Amino acid sequence: MKIITTIKEMQAIIAAQKSQEKSIGFVPTMGFLHEGHLTLLNRARQENDLVVLSIFVNPLQFGPKEDYAEYPRDFERDRALAEGEKVDFLFYPAVEEMYPHELSVKVTVQDRTDVLCGKSRPGHFDGVATVITKFFNIISPTRAYFGKKDAQQVAVIEGLISDFNMPVDLVAVDIVRENDGLAKSSRNVNLLPQERQVAPVLYQSLQAAEAALHEGEQNPIKLIEMIREMINKETNGEIDYVQIYSYPQLKPLEKLEGTIIIALAVKFTKVRLIDNTITNID
Ligand code: PAJ
Repeated sequence: MKIITTIKEMQAIIAAQKSQEKSIGFVPTMGFLHEGHLTLLNRARQENDLVVLSIFVNPLQFGPKEDYAEYPRDFERDRALAEGEKVDFLFYPAVEEMYPHELSVKVTVQDRTDVLCGKSRPGHFDGVATVITKFFNIISPTRAYFGKKDAQQVAVIEGLISDFNMPVDLVAVDIVRENDGLAKSSRNVNLLPQERQVAPVLYQSLQAAEAALHEGEQNPIKLIEMIREMINKETNGEIDYVQIYSYPQLKPLEKLEGTIIIALAVKFTKVRLIDNTITNID
């Protein structure tokens, strides 16, 4: 595995590989890798000649009061895990390499961001779409891999690729969970021990709502209330949102039909966790 820190070198390598018609699978991450990330890498390994992993904690997608400084980082550990997944190129640029000066152009996401995390984190998805546009131009991937854990991110990137005619196939991968159901996240290490113990209720509440839905509960307000009650009963976390929308359009539903997402975000002492389930209703 080769570690690359400059855009120039990364682009030169990609140009050489593309001239040999190699397909490139790209997995963008912010590091502190866990099994969720490794599942994306594994899938990319199976489907492409080459695998490029990026590790970059993107300051542009963190709000001024968010956890950019506290975001966990451990490059040596990540490097070993990436080797284990047979990554070919690990792109690891410094902030100054990616943003040497104030940007003169930034990608602004117009749709699918007025709800869920986009509403709670203004500017977050502009930061994501901007860094992903840069990465796509640096790496020219054949396929790019994203986790459904960040379902709204998948919806936004789908819009970005489609609206800007980017020649990239988006591959959305299912959520990887701990044995107790908690969605794997780099941020889970910032849960207090007692919070970690009760955190699986997030997924349990989604499962309960999904079960009620398939048993015929038609009222989204009742489902949302059920989730809120379960979380409030088990945790001291502050619910940021619990919402149900169409997916991937993320529009409110008068009637529960088609593909829907039930999504939630809960703030704990030092960390805000998200989870969701996407389900089809006939
Ligand atoms: P990060 O949070 O590091 O996640 C990198 C990728 O791993 C994302 O596509 C995310 O959805 C996926 N992922 C994280 N946890 C997962 C889980 N439990 N199961 C399945 N996939 C999971 O998302 C970002 O970084 C950034 O916003 C980024 C896209 C890199 C842009 O900066």
